Amino acid sequence: MTSYRIVGGKRLQGDISISGSKNAVLGILAAAMMLDGPCKIENVPDIVDVQAMLEICETIGAKITPCGEGTYEIDPTNINTYEATHPKVKNIRASYYLLGALLTRFRKATMYMPGGCNFGTRPIDLHLKGFRKMGAQGTRATDIRDGIIRIVAEELKGAHIFLDVVSVGATINLMLAATKANGTTVIENAAKEPHIVDVANFLNAMGADIKGAGTDTIRVRGVPVLPGGYTYSVIPDQIEAGTYMIASAVTRGDVTIHNLIPKHMEPLTVKMLEMGFNIEQGDDWIRVTIDDGVEPEPTNFKTRPYPGFPTDLQPQATVLLCQANGLSRMHENVWDNRFQYIPELQSMGASITVMERIALINGPVSFCGARVSALDLRAGAAMVLAGLAADGVTTITCANRIERGYEKIVEKLRAVGAEIDHIPDDEEHIVSDGDE
Ligand code: EPZ
Repeated sequence: MTSYRIVGGKRLQGDISISGSKNAVLGILAAAMMLDGPCKIENVPDIVDVQAMLEICETIGAKITPCGEGTYEIDPTNINTYEATHPKVKNIRASYYLLGALLTRFRKATMYMPGGCNFGTRPIDLHLKGFRKMGAQGTRATDIRDGIIRIVAEELKGAHIFLDVVSVGATINLMLAATKANGTTVIENAAKEPHIVDVANFLNAMGADIKGAGTDTIRVRGVPVLPGGYTYSVIPDQIEAGTYMIASAVTRGDVTIHNLIPKHMEPLTVKMLEMGFNIEQGDDWIRVTIDDGVEPEPTNFKTRPYPGFPTDLQPQATVLLCQANGLSRMHENVWDNRFQYIPELQSMGASITVMERIALINGPVSFCGARVSALDLRAGAAMVLAGLAADGVTTITCANRIERGYEKIVEKLRAVGAEIDHIPDDEEHIVSDGDE
């Protein structure tokens, strides 16, 4: 385990370049396991969860060849098992995408139930219900024994599926299972996140026939073969970009974030403009500043599926609201328990009251450095932002959880003037593991 030590109070200035999207790559790597030929994937971020997924793909027989600079050659043609039961599978939730991929490859899939996480239950009932509609057996809760899912499908048939809840994971998993099914599958009430579009674009580049990704109705015409044979470049990470936009804001800095897609940032950009920040943008960059003497205005955020405000920026935006001049509200509408990091922020001086899914945030407060823990990936990112803004020194333990989703975060922040270092974790402050 590692910790970060931050000496706060420095205005960040300069340029940060965004890496490939974690949540797109995790789906794309699972999708690559279905191909009937090799492919190449570019702009893969060097982060813990992606390394874990690459290792998991190797445990089922895929040949993964790093080509350097975030490019990998993937050859799934020798995959020799439909069982994803290596212990590593439990390390990341996104391994559940292998259910759809292995079901497509073998008409069978066996794997551990994905772990929970520390911001509420993480069910997969919608994934299983969709597979059942497509003809799979073993998808009922009563079929799951010893925490292992065993799914079999004599034939995967196209189906008309309506998702009761907008779910990123179910949308991607069912898209994977539909890619080579017999007939056409329609997924209604589908999630529309940028990473879903990226997985669909990857699959279409490799021979699939998917229409409507990015809308709430996705139509997948099953094809007999997915030849692969192409190179695909992953989109920039929307959440990493938003985190650094907020880093510039909370330090009243002047940072330009490069290699992003401004359209994906709109749910955050509009709110930061509302708060009084200056946002300049070009084709692939955004610059965040605030005029001298201007205090950020309070406002209300509501997390929603895309194009709403992303839940994965909720902790980070809460830190920003702590600096607003008045009372703000953060409504968490996606996860049922994603405010567990608030006490860590309160130990740094935040004045926040949580009532179920709403956090009432009183500002402005000046954060003071403290010893806090990264309870999960995005809560950890929020602690970094508070540490950057704080007076004094902040130590963040379990910082390896932050490195699950942020490539070279220490180096990227140092390059814009942050005083941040890795230090060894001191054992007594390590809390239970937070999964994503
Ligand atoms: C993905 O998780 C992301 N993870 C999460 O990001 C993100 O918070 C989430 O989407 C929402 O945007 C990856 O992409 C690897 P969901 P996922 O299925 O797919 C309910 C990060 O920080 N639901 O969209 O697991 C569920 O309880 C991580 O990068 C069901 O009820 O989320 C939740 O309330 C954290 N039944 C809502 O849907 C199901 O079968 C949205 O969940 C599935 C989900």
